[in-house]
Amino acid sequence: MHLFTSLGLAAGAAVATSAAVLQMNASETITSGIIPPTTTPHMPYIPPGGIGVNNTPPQYVAMSDFDWQSINLALNQEWIELDLFNYGLAKFSVQDFQDAGLYAEDRFLIEFMAQQEIGHALLLSNILGPYAAKPCTYRYPFNTVREFIDFCQKLTRFGESGVYGFIEHLDSRPAAQLLLQSITTEARQQMIFRQFLGLFPMPVWFETGITQSMAWTLLAPYLVSCPAENPRIAWQNFPALNVTNNPDATPYFNTSTAGNSTSPGITNNRSEPLSFGGRQVNFTWELPGTPIGYNDSYRTNTTAGPAKFVAWISQLNTTYTPLENVQGESGTTNQPDPRVFGNDTAPVINGTMFVALVDQEVNITPANISKLNSHIVAGPALYQAG
Ligand SMILES: *[C@@H]1O[C@H](CO)[C@@H](O)[C@H](O)[C@H]1NC(C)=O
Ligand SMILES: *[C@@H]1O[C@H](CO)[C@@H](O)[C@H](O)[C@H]1NC(C)=O
Ligand SMILES: *[C@@H]1O[C@H](CO)[C@@H](O)[C@H](O)[C@H]1NC(C)=O
Ligand SMILES: *[C@@H]1O[C@H](CO)[C@@H](O)[C@H](O)[C@H]1NC(C)=O
Ligand SMILES: *[C@@H]1O[C@H](CO)[C@@H](O)[C@H](O)[C@H]1NC(C)=O
Ligand SMILES: *[C@@H]1O[C@H](CO)[C@@H](O)[C@H](O)[C@H]1NC(C)=O
Ligand SMILES: *[C@@H]1O[C@H](CO)[C@@H](O)[C@H](O)[C@H]1NC(C)=O
Ligand SMILES: *[C@@H]1O[C@H](CO)[C@@H](O)[C@H](O)[C@H]1NC(C)=O
Ligand SMILES: *[C@@H]1O[C@H](CO)[C@@H](O)[C@H](O)[C@H]1NC(C)=O
Ligand SMILES: *[C@@H]1O[C@H](CO)[C@@H](O)[C@H](O)[C@H]1NC(C)=O
Ligand SMILES: *[C@@H]1O[C@H](CO)[C@@H](O)[C@H](O)[C@H]1NC(C)=O
Ligand SMILES: *[C@@H]1O[C@H](CO)[C@@H](O)[C@H](O)[C@H]1NC(C)=O
Repeated sequence: MHLFTSLGLAAGAAVATSAAVLQMNASETITSGIIPPTTTPHMPYIPPGGIGVNNTPPQYVAMSDFDWQSINLALNQEWIELDLFNYGLAKFSVQDFQDAGLYAEDRFLIEFMAQQEIGHALLLSNILGPYAAKPCTYRYPFNTVREFIDFCQKLTRFGESGVYGFIEHLDSRPAAQLLLQSITTEARQQMIFRQFLGLFPMPVWFETGITQSMAWTLLAPYLVSCPAENPRIAWQNFPALNVTNNPDATPYFNTSTAGNSTSPGITNNRSEPLSFGGRQVNFTWELPGTPIGYNDSYRTNTTAGPAKFVAWISQLNTTYTPLENVQGESGTTNQPDPRVFGNDTAPVINGTMFVALVDQEVNITPANISKLNSHIVAGPALYQAG
């Protein structure tokens, strides 16, 4: 209540907005958005309602193709994380890590994260059963420790957001629960990699969700070859999008000047933010039909018309700016500065977020972001807003 008041909103109005936005079951509750307490607490202290709170045994399995394909995509993500964390630890020397301000205990933390991935992969394999994806071979775009850490904070960002985008749509709520308990661990990994880069650890109010096809588009380029028995991934690969002037978090400034240091730390202010409203952002993109994914066995595709807008996907919001200076497969836009809940609330555009080119401005909220898929011309790409 205090928060709503301090935002200049009536408490009731704020609750009603969030109920509508979060697409709660459109029964009688949504019209008011407020459920008054009608029951007096008494034994056994279980208010009426809820799902799966009777004695039905939970079934920790995929209950539909949608469940299976969503969780198998997440499993492919867990496998690459396991490989990536171990690969980085093996590729770089102790001295390389020290030169980036990372020492033995930091390396142990990354090693422990790799062990967490073993647990996550085991869990998801158990949910999926005998056809679950096996590990693949991978390619990585980094040559230095700082670039490795940057790639880790980006990969875990789309791993995390990729699950938030579908978790509420799973048929199996028990499986969703186990997946959530894995992905909240991954969320902690993402933040720690940001701290290892000296970034502000969590510059947003809400972590965003993206669709399975968006996550698969971001993951596929790093898969070189997979075992023949791995089931085909059902989601779409959109044409690649490149932010050619993406803000770069890797330069290392080891200074004691407030606002200047990018040394590993719990938190750093930056006196020069990585990006800002009005910044010109430049893109190049590919046409559909490019072979992609392991064994080049997938092809990029789009069902959208010509690129007209840039979708900025961050926090609870997808906002649009016009795509300008279009010449063939290149164009520009200006970074917007929307606020999550209006004036004086958090800037939407911050952290490691997503941009995509689309053919029209589609009004979407977290529960129906999949409606954006058919409008994507290219992307998403990760945008390093802060
Ligand atoms: C909404 O709730 C009603 C009553 O509990 C239920 O019958 C209905 O199936 C629910 N609808 C959805 C879309 O979940
Ligand atoms: C960072 O600067 C401090 C103070 O000059 C120094 O002790 C430390 O070794 C430097 N760290 C790295 C990784 O260069
Ligand atoms: C991918 O290529 C590797 C190496 O040639 C091969 O072992 C594997 O069976 C192939 N996988 C698929 C899915 O075709
Ligand atoms: C993206 O564009 C930048 C700047 O032109 C270039 O250095 C980089 O290699 C491009 N990346 C991809 C994946 O095409
Ligand atoms: C830190 O200061 C140096 C030297 O003035 C400057 O080049 C650099 O951009 C600053 N870095 C940050 C993150 O503010
Ligand atoms: C950090 O930045 C915030 C604004 O983003 C400012 O209010 C605060 O004073 C800064 N703190 C330091 C120690 O620089
Ligand atoms: C992102 O958040 C950090 C920390 O509050 C702030 O210093 C920075 O200016 C923000 N960046 C943008 C683009 O709003
Ligand atoms: C971005 O594109 C504009 C217009 O094409 C161009 O003038 C500018 O130099 C580009 N900026 C970068 C950093 O590539
Ligand atoms: C995209 O997929 C559709 C439907 O499968 C197909 O008709 C079309 O040729 C594909 N486009 C490209 C560029 O591959
Ligand atoms: C951001 O999303 C929230 C929740 O859906 C909504 O209330 C708010 O109006 C949106 N803000 C913008 C700038 O679109
Ligand atoms: C937000 O701030 C702008 C500029 O100060 C003002 O014109 C506008 O009325 C404000 N909007 C709300 C909803 O308070
Ligand atoms: C997504 O949901 C919002 C909120 O219910 C609705 O206003 C919007 O029209 C929906 N978008 C699409 C493309 O269906």
